[in-house]
Amino acid sequence: MRLDFKYATQGSELMEEAQKAQAALHARTCKGSDFLGWLDLPDQMLGGLSEIEGAAATIRGADGLIVVGIGGSYLGARAVVEALGNGLPAKFPVIFAGHHMDSSYHTALLELMKGRRFAVNVISKSGTTTEPGLAFRLLLGHVQSSYSKEDQQNLVFVTTDAKKGSLRPLVDARGWKSFVIGDDVGGRFSVLSPVGLLPIAAAGYNVKALLEGARDMAVRLKSTGADNPALAYACYRNARYRAGKKIEILVNYQPALHFLAEWWKQLYGESEGKDGKGIYPGSVDFSSDLHSMGQWIQEAERTIFETVLDVVKPASDLKVPSSAVQDGLEYLAGRSMNEINRVALAAVQEAHKTGGVESLRIELDSMNEANLGGLLYFFEYACAVSGIMLGVNPFDQPGVEAYKKTMFRMLGKPGA
Ligand code: PA5
Repeated sequence: MRLDFKYATQGSELMEEAQKAQAALHARTCKGSDFLGWLDLPDQMLGGLSEIEGAAATIRGADGLIVVGIGGSYLGARAVVEALGNGLPAKFPVIFAGHHMDSSYHTALLELMKGRRFAVNVISKSGTTTEPGLAFRLLLGHVQSSYSKEDQQNLVFVTTDAKKGSLRPLVDARGWKSFVIGDDVGGRFSVLSPVGLLPIAAAGYNVKALLEGARDMAVRLKSTGADNPALAYACYRNARYRAGKKIEILVNYQPALHFLAEWWKQLYGESEGKDGKGIYPGSVDFSSDLHSMGQWIQEAERTIFETVLDVVKPASDLKVPSSAVQDGLEYLAGRSMNEINRVALAAVQEAHKTGGVESLRIELDSMNEANLGGLLYFFEYACAVSGIMLGVNPFDQPGVEAYKKTMFRMLGKPGA
C-alpha cells in the first residue's frame, strides 16, 4: 500500500502533532484508552484461529450463512466479503440481516430459508440492540420450527461480550457455539476479531492471510517518521479540515469496494463526529457516480477533498473486443480494461484538481486478503491518530444513544 500525493497537499506541518497523537495512542494515555484492544488483534487472533476455522467449516456444510448485526457488528465482514467476491453473489451465499427493521426484507428472507439449512451468526456485543434483536427473534423462530434438533444446536453461532452481553445466558442454556468480542474492542474497530473473522472465513476467504496483512501493517505503522502512511493520512485530512474542507469523499473504481467505503464511513463518522467537530465522511462509486455526483464534486461548494482507492492490478484484465457497433469506441479495441479504468481515475483526479478538489491516492497492488487486512488496519490506526489530533475521544459514540432513547420512549419501552 502506498500514498500518492501528486494531487494533494501533504499537511506535513502537522506531523509533530500526529507524532504526539501516535505517542499517546501507544502509551495508552489518549482519551478512550480502555478501547485499544484492536491494536493487538492481528497478533492475538493469529494465535488462536482454529476455533474460528472449525466453525467456518461447519457453516460451509450448510446452504449458506445469515449474519445478523448492525454497525460495527456487520460492516467489516460485509466489506471484506464483498471486496473479495467482486460485489457479486457468491456460490456460498452470505446474507446480511439485522441492520434495519424492514418487514418486507425479513419476510422475503424467511421465505428464502424455507426448506434450506442456513447457518445463523448473530453478532451483538450488548445483545440488546433493537435491529439485530428483532431479526434474531424472527430467524430463531424459523430455526426452532423448521430445523432438526441437531441443526438447531449446531447451526446457530453467537458472537457477543464474554460476560455482560444479554445473549450470554441464552448461549449457556442452549449450548450454542460462541465467540467473544473483547471488552476493550469497540464495534467499529472489531473487524479483525471474531466479529469479522467468522463470517469472512465462512465465506471461504483466508483469514490467516488477512490477519498477516494487518500484522505486517501494524509493524510498518510503528514508525514515528514521515514514512508512516497512517500519520501522513491523518496529517492530510486534518490539514484539509482546518483549511475549511469539511467533507471527505472516499472514491473507488471497483463495485467490490462499495462496502469497504460503508465500513470506512462508520469508522470515521462515529470516531470523529462529536463535540461539534469532525469531517463528514462520504463516498462515491466511480464510474457510476461520475454520472450522478460528478457534477456536484466538480463544481459545487468547495468544501470537499477526496481520498481515492486505486487497485493497481485487479484479479483479471479483460481486453476490449473489436465491434461493428458505431459507438465511437473502436479506438479502444484491444486495450486493457484495467488500464482504461486507471486512466479514468487519473483523469478525474486531474479534472477535480482544476475544480479545486484535492485528492490523495491510496494504491493497493492487488485485491487479496493480505492487502485488505493491511488496508483495514491502516484505516483504523489513522482514524485513531486523526481523532486524537482533532481533540475528541475516537472510541466512544454518545450520539448514537440519542435516537435510541427517543425511539424507546415512542415505542413505550418500560422505564424509557
Ligand atoms: O461501533 C459501534 O460500537 C456500533 O456500531 C455497534 O457495533 C452497533 O451499535 C451494534 O451494537 P451491538 O454490537 O451491541 O449490537
